[in-house]
Amino acid sequence: MERILTIDTISKAGKIVKVSGWVDTRRDHGKIIFIDLRDRSGILQLVFTPKDKELYGLANTLRGEWVIEVEGKIGERPKGVENPELTTGNIEMLVEKLVILNEAKTPPFALNSDGYEIGEDNRLRYRYLDLRRARLQKNIGMRHKMALFMRNAFSERGFVEIETPSLTKGTPEGAREFIVPSRLHPGKFFVLPQSPQQFKQLLMVSGFERYFQFARCFRDEDERKDRQPEFTQLDVEISFLDEESIRSIIEEIVIKSIGELFPAKKILKTPFPVMSQKEAVEKYNSDKPDIRENKNDFQELAFLWVVDFPLFEYSETEKGLVSSHHPFTSPKDGDLRLLEKNPEQVMAKAYDLVLNGYEIGGGSIRIHRRDLQEKIFRVLGLAEEEIKGRFGHMLEAFEYGAPPHGGIALGIDRFVAILQNEPSIREVMAFPKTGDARDLMMDAPSEVSPKQLKEAHINIIHES
Ligand code: AMO
Repeated sequence: MERILTIDTISKAGKIVKVSGWVDTRRDHGKIIFIDLRDRSGILQLVFTPKDKELYGLANTLRGEWVIEVEGKIGERPKGVENPELTTGNIEMLVEKLVILNEAKTPPFALNSDGYEIGEDNRLRYRYLDLRRARLQKNIGMRHKMALFMRNAFSERGFVEIETPSLTKGTPEGAREFIVPSRLHPGKFFVLPQSPQQFKQLLMVSGFERYFQFARCFRDEDERKDRQPEFTQLDVEISFLDEESIRSIIEEIVIKSIGELFPAKKILKTPFPVMSQKEAVEKYNSDKPDIRENKNDFQELAFLWVVDFPLFEYSETEKGLVSSHHPFTSPKDGDLRLLEKNPEQVMAKAYDLVLNGYEIGGGSIRIHRRDLQEKIFRVLGLAEEEIKGRFGHMLEAFEYGAPPHGGIALGIDRFVAILQNEPSIREVMAFPKTGDARDLMMDAPSEVSPKQLKEAHINIIHES
């Protein structure tokens, strides 16, 4: 007999079927043993009576999280004991055959709660078990649906999904970089990308015009609940469109995704309001204001475009100007004349997408001309040698017919976390890292063998 999912037993009343999964809970009522069997589709109640001694004896050994396969007849539950909380709450299986596929140790924590009450270190150490809880199954499932929706939506609008390298050279996005030593080139390093920024711009030079990618990004920065050292962007780049047109493509897709996947959510205002950064800071004391009308209503979604950022800001640590977004962002046309004398007054063609007080996306129109890009690097205080060494390839590419272009990247983890009403992006990532950037399950980062170090030409200096 072929195994079916518990959800598909609903239409099988009176039939004998086979299902398999995990023992979710066990309840003994007098002589009858009730098992809630859990599979990826939900839960089905199994009933064992003492009639068949051998079967009953075996059922009696069952414990939580054991993996079993059962065959039996699907029947209506007696009147009054239906469970409206379950999709299969009106039926149950009277088991005729039981096979124990694998036993299980008692899990280190409860799996049938939402899990917020359990210490996070423990949850992440046993993440493969933590992921069994219904809340996380749902989060990961909805994340998949969102990714699928987005992939189709962009594809339907002429965008091509293109993968870009993870072993590359630094792309400045304002964070520290993770570096990877090269075995074949002693003393040299790859850098893991903070974003595919340079590659996606180069793809515009290549003539793709419309690119997207679910891009893994790496940033060695201090942790917060809305940050991870590696995370996923839905990265987008478009040629020949202005700021408003790019924003409206993204807005349309975002609104449609919510209508389709989260129909109970209410978007406060469409089209999304647009506010200058100055106004946001003056009115709300934040450049990612939470403009919800009722912050207790978890169904309310308040999107907001924040625009008109300054191109540069003064950095105390750098003792000089740094890019507010990244150095490839275009200044506003009218401000070009201010670049040399008053760079701090130059405004950028940049935009952030804010949702309920979180920045879920950021993008801009880019520079596509060599002379302007060089000028920006100089304002940022980069010496000619450094410009050539770090960004020579971009400057060169701009000389071979670079079209005007711009784009955006949406933080998919943040977006899904907010839609799933989760307090942290870790709740919508399968294998997130701890607050101090460790993977407790895999025990990473960890030491490597002396042989590996030698091959990578690395000497460890032990600080006392
Ligand atoms: P930016 O740095 O603004 O732009 O990143 C875009 C979006 O990515 C999300 N994000 C993060 N999510 C989780 N953990 C992190 N550490 C983290 N850092 C950023 C945020 C953010 O809005 N290349 C540009 C995009 C562009 O100009 O097209 C970029 O990376 O939701």
